[in-house]
Amino acid sequence: MDKLKITGGRALEGEVRVSGAKNAALPILCAALLTAKPLTVTNVPRLRDVSTMAKLLGEMGVAVERSEGRVVLHAPTIKDPTASYELVKTMRASVLVLGPLLARCGEAKVSLPGGCAIGARPVDQHVKGLEAMGATIAVEHGYMHASAKRLRGARIVMDLVTVTGTENLMMAAALAEGETLLENAAREPEVVDLARCLIAMGAKIEGAGSDRIRIQGVRSLGGAAHRVMPDRIETGTYLAATAAAGGKVRLTGAAPDSLDATLDKLREAGAKVSTTEDTIEIEMTGRPGAVSVRTAPYPGFATDMQAQFMALATVARGTALITETIFENRFMHALEMQRLGAEIRLEGNTAVVNGVERLQGATVMATDLRASAGLVIAGLVADGETVVDRIYHLDRGYEALE
Ligand code: UD1
Repeated sequence: MDKLKITGGRALEGEVRVSGAKNAALPILCAALLTAKPLTVTNVPRLRDVSTMAKLLGEMGVAVERSEGRVVLHAPTIKDPTASYELVKTMRASVLVLGPLLARCGEAKVSLPGGCAIGARPVDQHVKGLEAMGATIAVEHGYMHASAKRLRGARIVMDLVTVTGTENLMMAAALAEGETLLENAAREPEVVDLARCLIAMGAKIEGAGSDRIRIQGVRSLGGAAHRVMPDRIETGTYLAATAAAGGKVRLTGAAPDSLDATLDKLREAGAKVSTTEDTIEIEMTGRPGAVSVRTAPYPGFATDMQAQFMALATVARGTALITETIFENRFMHALEMQRLGAEIRLEGNTAVVNGVERLQGATVMATDLRASAGLVIAGLVADGETVVDRIYHLDRGYEALE
């Protein structure tokens, strides 16, 4: 499917079961590279990125069996520690194989990710950390060639907070000799979920969820069974959609604890939100109030929720400031929302959004995964029909948003 047609103006009603988190599942699948024993992962979302990761691991010689949300991975040996450009260019998270391959095989050849629609996304912190652990990494013909006899534990202070950087180094350190201390580590719940999986495999890790993670390397890791945490971005997307369009929606299988910043902002917009341990109910009547957000590393407001909250702001009462601090060039959806009649002015990394009563349906173009979600929400609050083109981006992160 290439286009999504939305008839706007209807309130949302119903119950949705949230999927497993894509951003937790991807690193957890890579953890299978660290052990010769089988790793069973459940609550795995059915997404294109997961298929891409399965294919990538398969090319390295990992046996991958998939059935209904369950993936069993088994890598008695690694046939070829290479991640080709063909796959890496379609999914940046492929770089997550670098640390595990290096730790397990002593070598890895991983394509540089290259440009990406939401701005430059370098991997210098991944490289710097692995070098501190004794790896030699050379870049030739667009590939990182990494080698190390056995990685050694090290104290690594990361220059900035990076999610996949933290995950890559945590996996590498799990099999390194001695202790690794990761300072200024990412505190995202997905990092904690990966740590839980690694610990179940026999890794010695303390402090995941704080900015200081201590890893005592072990000789080898075993198999384990791990259930992926619920997707907090998918959850937040449905909540923002309901806050924008109005209605009453119940989400089950969710992790409200991982969504504090989003839930606060929804309440500020006037939504009634109630939670239990694993459900969230949202009810919205009337136009939302304008809420400003500023993206930041967890527990701050997630950059992956920025486009959805911009959509909410387009129909809010008043003016909202949406500030993006994580990625440059992550406002492409703003220009498309303008085509729907949104009043948005871009000033550097801030979008000044004057809420209007309703948007007007039109054809718009999706540019990346979360931008697509923002445009779908905008379509829900636009009069008449909105067509979102290039909607295939959505399949990378949502099982069946429509
Ligand atoms: C992860 C998420 C993505 C989310 C992002 C920020 C996965 C698979 N993806 O992406 O959905 O939008 O976190 O929450 O989990 N940076 C460097 N050098 C590095 C690494 C990163 O300068 O070596 C910079 C990036 O350019 C960016 C910032 O750090 O400005 C955050 O990047 P990072 O957290 O690494 O994002 P991803 O892990 O790619």
